[in-house]
Amino acid sequence: MSNVSASRHPLVAHKLTRLRDTHTDPKRFRELVREIAALLAYEATADLATVDRDVQTPLANSRGVELQEKIGLVPILRAGLGMVEGIWDLMPSAEVWHIGLYRDEQTLKPVEYYNKLPVEPTVSVCLILDPMLATGGSAVATTDVLKRWGVGRIKFVGVIGAPEGIKNMQDHHPDVPIYLAAIDDHLNDKGYIIPGLGDAGDRQFGTG
Ligand code: PRP
Ligand code: URA
Repeated sequence: MSNVSASRHPLVAHKLTRLRDTHTDPKRFRELVREIAALLAYEATADLATVDRDVQTPLANSRGVELQEKIGLVPILRAGLGMVEGIWDLMPSAEVWHIGLYRDEQTLKPVEYYNKLPVEPTVSVCLILDPMLATGGSAVATTDVLKRWGVGRIKFVGVIGAPEGIKNMQDHHPDVPIYLAAIDDHLNDKGYIIPGLGDAGDRQFGTG
């Protein structure tokens, strides 16, 4: 599991516990998803390239840096939407490209229903955002789309991953690092992560 990291940060662990709690209401759930996403993105972007630039402070000239890479945030609808804002606050010039997928309840295979990517890639590094990496079908399909688009570097940022989904991503896309708040135990026979947090889309949007 060398390219998989489960955060060891106490703030992430604290917030994840609240997120899992079945008594957490949708408003607080959305706040927690947003906060955890920002903390994970901070870890996931530690190796972004920078270029040197001069900066004039009120007192002197100084050397500084600015980000070199154009970043794309790619939330997988619906549940990935809740991860966008917290990360966007940290990198406001990032582009946001939505991918619409839902899991067929019988086959657990992803079905694509929204993709408005332009023909040529407009970013050099993409963060795929989805709280749940269950079977991994949605993450694999989204990575396929982004590689066909021509993105040079792709990272997956999620909240909870199951061993099955991590293996699926590593089998299909071993070059894509995975950043999570936790790796859980297993999937149940309906493809839900155990212990997990239930349905991440329904809990955010108050549906289901
Ligand atoms: C959930 C979740 C992921 C997917 C993960 O989406 O947000 O996108 O399942 O499962 P997988 O790893 O087995 O593909 P869902 O299909 O429930 O759609 P929603 O976000 O619109 O609720
Ligand atoms: N999607 C969810 O929202 N939760 C799971 O546990 C698995 C897939």
